[in-house]
Amino acid sequence: MGWPGRVAVVGAGYMGQGIAEVLALAGFDCALADQSAELAQAALGHLLAEADAHEASGLIPSGGSSVVGSRVRAAASIEDAVVGADLVVEAVFELREVKEAVLRRISDAASPLAAIATNTSSISISSLSACVTHPERFLGAHWFNPPQFVPGVEVISCGATSGRVLEQVEDLLRRVGKQPARAGDQPGFVANRLQYALFQEAAAVVEEGIATPEAVDEIVRSTFGFRLPFFGPFAIADMAGLDIYRGTYAILEDAYEGRFVAPRLLLDLIAGGALGAKNGRGFVIGNADQAAAMAASRNRAYVAMSRLVDDFRSASPGDGTPDETDDRDHESVDKH
Ligand SMILES: NC(=O)c1ccc[n+]([C@@H]2O[C@H](COP(=O)([O-])OP(=O)(O)OC[C@H]3O[C@@H](n4cnc5c(N)ncnc54)[C@H](O)[C@@H]3O)[C@@H](O)[C@H]2O)c1
Repeated sequence: MGWPGRVAVVGAGYMGQGIAEVLALAGFDCALADQSAELAQAALGHLLAEADAHEASGLIPSGGSSVVGSRVRAAASIEDAVVGADLVVEAVFELREVKEAVLRRISDAASPLAAIATNTSSISISSLSACVTHPERFLGAHWFNPPQFVPGVEVISCGATSGRVLEQVEDLLRRVGKQPARAGDQPGFVANRLQYALFQEAAAVVEEGIATPEAVDEIVRSTFGFRLPFFGPFAIADMAGLDIYRGTYAILEDAYEGRFVAPRLLLDLIAGGALGAKNGRGFVIGNADQAAAMAASRNRAYVAMSRLVDDFRSASPGDGTPDETDDRDHESVDKH
């Protein structure tokens, strides 16, 4: 299997269990630790029941559940889990003091050569690195909920993380079917900074009586959110036209006093003559051929996406609204 020979997952809640399922399915031995041996054992029971359900629904390969059962063990303690591990994944509560105490215990008990990856959603990785000796082995690897099925993982250096460790972890993530992307070390990194900015405006729209939560969700899902599996905000701006964005910003700046300000990045590009797809120069579009290819693939992608959404909604009536956000309601999740 190559590196890592053994993995420890510390914090056997929703994310820890899901990460252990992914790694075990890919053939890695995982020790699962929580606040006590009993909680770790209960988490393992829950994880195995989930893996059974995933297999029964065809979400993981046939036989996957018994692979998970043979690869994951409940550890008696954090120390028991991390001794001999080549990779330790920390997924305890998103509370700085809890993470700091747990990272100190991991750091003391683990091999100095073991990589230690925190799954924090928002806490700066360099600010946590003081709790880890040999910080060259410490990094952020921020998975998304549910970790079994969302492909992206943000990878964040603590500033002292060695290039070897970053590459080892990224390579592992690719081998288990994930799509790692490097993010800078600021609270919220990239994904949550953007997701929470969207949520901020979504909540304002509801507070102002512009739309109900249901209508906001429907509009986001079926309009610009519909594009997001294929294109990010820069490709979307290029395709819309950078002059269109500038014009829209002028209206929003007037209407929402300081909440919207046309970004310098946009204005500088326009000042240099770029208008996006329409003149083959934009944030990510470099020439007219690329613009034409993007438009053609966009149309195919959107038709395929429409069919997928329609098929999914007709096969799962009342179940078409995904709830996989980083700030999911913990009460609604059946945990150990
Ligand atoms: N839930 C999400 O959508 C999501 C997404 C991405 C990242 N994250 C991050 O992943 C981490 C875990 O989130 P979660 O949703 O799995 O939380 P959770 O509450 O489901 O699980 C946390 C687990 O940590 C355990 N724990 C707490 N203190 C501990 C200690 N001292 N020693 C050992 N175990 C301890 C708890 O008993 C619990 O089982 C957080 O940092 C969170 O921000 C969460």
